[in-house]
Amino acid sequence: MPRTSIRTRLLVALLAVAVVAAVGLSAYFLRELESFALRKLEERLHTQARITAALVAETILADGRSLDDRDAAAIQRALDASAPYAASRMRVLDARGTVLADSGGEPGTSYADRREVRAALAGEYGAATRITERGRVALYVAVPIKAGDEIAGVSYASSTTFSIMSLLSDYRTRLAMVVAAFIAATFALAELLARWLSRPLTGLAETAARFASGDHSARAVPSGSAETEALARAFNAMADEVERAIAELREEERRKSRFVSDVSHELRTPLTAIRGAAETLLDGDVSEDDERQFLATIVREADRLTRLANDLLTLQRIEGATGELPLGRVRLRDAAERAAEALQPLTEARGVQVDVTGDDPVVLGDADRLQQVVANLLDNATRVTPEGGRVEVRISEGADGVTLEVLDEGPGIPEDALPHVFERFFRAQTSRDRSTGGAGLGLAIVAAIVRAHAGVVTAANRPEGGSVFAVRLPSLAPRREEPEG
Ligand SMILES: Nc1ncnc2c1ncn2[C@@H]1O[C@H](COP(=O)(O)OP(=O)(O)O)[C@@H](O)[C@H]1O
Ligand SMILES: [Mg+2]
Repeated sequence: MPRTSIRTRLLVALLAVAVVAAVGLSAYFLRELESFALRKLEERLHTQARITAALVAETILADGRSLDDRDAAAIQRALDASAPYAASRMRVLDARGTVLADSGGEPGTSYADRREVRAALAGEYGAATRITERGRVALYVAVPIKAGDEIAGVSYASSTTFSIMSLLSDYRTRLAMVVAAFIAATFALAELLARWLSRPLTGLAETAARFASGDHSARAVPSGSAETEALARAFNAMADEVERAIAELREEERRKSRFVSDVSHELRTPLTAIRGAAETLLDGDVSEDDERQFLATIVREADRLTRLANDLLTLQRIEGATGELPLGRVRLRDAAERAAEALQPLTEARGVQVDVTGDDPVVLGDADRLQQVVANLLDNATRVTPEGGRVEVRISEGADGVTLEVLDEGPGIPEDALPHVFERFFRAQTSRDRSTGGAGLGLAIVAAIVRAHAGVVTAANRPEGGSVFAVRLPSLAPRREEPEG
């Protein structure tokens, strides 16, 4: 079933309201008008009947007898004399309800069975409304004619008038025209209203269609009523959100494919080296010294592959299990010292001294992971520090948490590389590092572990030379400077 448009609904609603209001109001006012006119007419008839009754009583019944045929002629003369001036018909009835005189000229009829006449014969005022055969309204008023305490007869006045309905039917064509004009005006109003109400919605629908077909910059212009304006704003907010989510998805997609190509690239270099060395060895005809050299290359590159696999696995475990880290109370200084110890053979070989200094705060975390953070930072720091130099691991606890800094005496980090050092596979000095270091995953692992501990890690260059890597972790101990009371 096709949905009806706003225009149709408005038209139906407006027409219904207009028709109900118009019919109801006119019916009410016409009825009021009619009953007012009838009341006025009744008052007039009453006055006339009372005057006639008084006249008859005064002039004819002065001696206190009932009305009879003898009076008929005199009363008829009196009624005839006033007839040309009266809009109503006057009758005088005797005590049995029979007409003695009639301004309309029909004496002899009995009206004893009429309600109003019976009321007058009983000494009361009587009035009645009847509809004539010609559809007009007839009003009857009956007043008793009293001779002392006796009811001598009835003064009976009547008049006809147009009923409102018969008047309306007389004006049928004019009425039809008014109704037609009325409906036309309603149509025009409904059309205007429909346009006014539906324009913002049509605009919104177009915008939504545009958005759905791929134009993610499409936004609605908030306009119209409060509701359509709110709708447009809600749509825009949703569009913003969707656009952002799509951009994020694309970025994620891009990161993933770059990651895969980075990994392949990292795999290819050692594999090529191993294959080259192995082929040369297979060819035979290699001196003993060269043979040892090629075998060493194979071992070194295989080591590099193992490290790469381990690093990738570590990274995947940390990032895949955020929040599920086995947390415990860790003495940060212990973790740092254990890392320095583990790296001692390496740092000694590099001829660099490592000192752990500062506070011994307790943090909430995974001891092995935190040790790995320090180890990765120390590995980098001792690699870049010249022989005979010194690397310091400085731990401090402050009001806003715990800080672990690794300070080296190396060349520092190029300014344009600073924002990227924590990215996967990032290496600032590619040629040199490839021979000595890893695949550029060490700092990515550091960043992932620190993030999993709700901390932040930053890299900076020291004014006096060298660089400093700072890890900030939330403090576990209650803050001491908290005011009492
Ligand atoms: N202490 C440091 N001083 C100067 N450069 C550094 C330091 N630590 C890291 N970097 C730079 O950041 C890059 C990424 O480091 P990292 O993620 O540990 O990878 P890798 O050690 O495998 O090269 C390094 O290649 C190096 O260029
Ligand atoms: Mg490293």
